[in-house]
Amino acid sequence: MQILDGKLVSKAIKDQLALNVAELKAQGKKVPHLAAILVGNDGASETYVASKVKSCAEIGYHSTLLRFDDHISEKHLLDHINMLNENPDVDGILVQLPLPKSINEELVINTIDPSKDVDGFHPMNVGKMVSGLPTFIPATPYGIMLMLEHYNIETKGKHAVVIGRSHIVGTPMSILLSRNSNPGNCTVTLCHSQTKNLKELCLQADIVVAAIGRPDFVTGDMVKEGAVVIDVGINRVADNTKKSGFRLVGDVKFDEVAPKCSFITPVPGGVGPMTIAALLKNTYHSAIGQKGNRN
Ligand SMILES: NC(=O)c1ccc[n+]([C@@H]2O[C@H](COP(=O)([O-])OP(=O)(O)OC[C@H]3O[C@@H](n4cnc5c(N)ncnc54)[C@H](OP(=O)(O)O)[C@@H]3O)[C@@H](O)[C@H]2O)c1
Repeated sequence: MQILDGKLVSKAIKDQLALNVAELKAQGKKVPHLAAILVGNDGASETYVASKVKSCAEIGYHSTLLRFDDHISEKHLLDHINMLNENPDVDGILVQLPLPKSINEELVINTIDPSKDVDGFHPMNVGKMVSGLPTFIPATPYGIMLMLEHYNIETKGKHAVVIGRSHIVGTPMSILLSRNSNPGNCTVTLCHSQTKNLKELCLQADIVVAAIGRPDFVTGDMVKEGAVVIDVGINRVADNTKKSGFRLVGDVKFDEVAPKCSFITPVPGGVGPMTIAALLKNTYHSAIGQKGNRN
């Protein structure tokens, strides 16, 4: 069993991006600029945004963090997005999800200029992705594809089971894995809460991608020997031994599943860092006017 080390791979990607930024600077060009919007003070969202902003600084990007409280009106938020859309210095805009219930998430996503939508959630970019056109690929599935590529994991002709069909992870993951590309060329089964025979399907999988949001959901008896397991889940479970009062666990019961795998991602340190690396890559491509990150 080999660990797919997201920290290591994301560091390699970030190191390359830092070199690219240094080159842009040396040529007197502007550096990439990511603008992040955070509404409210959900602990997990704060952590995610903080690491995105920190990563920007590490590799020489500019970043702007706009913070608003829960009570911000939808109109006020949309006005800010429009300002960022019109600001020529801003290359990428991300709105950390989820948003408070009073705000229409779909409207917010649709307001982001598709050419700055580095999260790849705008319907225009989703449509391009489905059509196999160059575009911004949603950061988490893009990061997973970069990880599979880095470790040279054979995907051609394999059966991949993706558990979870969200717009941000499961659905785009199923599309990317089924494309005629490398990585890709899998036969994909996309599972969700209404799937009847989940365990049987998982047992047939050469590759399992778990994006459910339930701690330890995928157990040892659901995975066949030699499978590749990608654990997207980030779940907080109470832990009195930690200063924070919680620890992070994935959707996969690591201790049971890992011994059966050929490759597995840990939580933390697997998909999470890759998501950030992919976001930074999207932002770089936006800055240089080249959305060529097809996979
Ligand atoms: N590592 C990262 O960078 C990263 C990025 C994004 C998300 N995440 C994590 O990944 C997890 C999933 O996130 P998400 O945004 O995709 O979640 P989500 O929008 O809540 O989607 C969860 C999916 O799981 C399915 N599901 C729920 N219970 C199930 C069951 N018993 N059997 C089979 N499928 C079931 C749901 O099915 P229905 O559609 O039928 O409801 C849904 O499609 C979360 O833990 C999240 O924190 C991590």
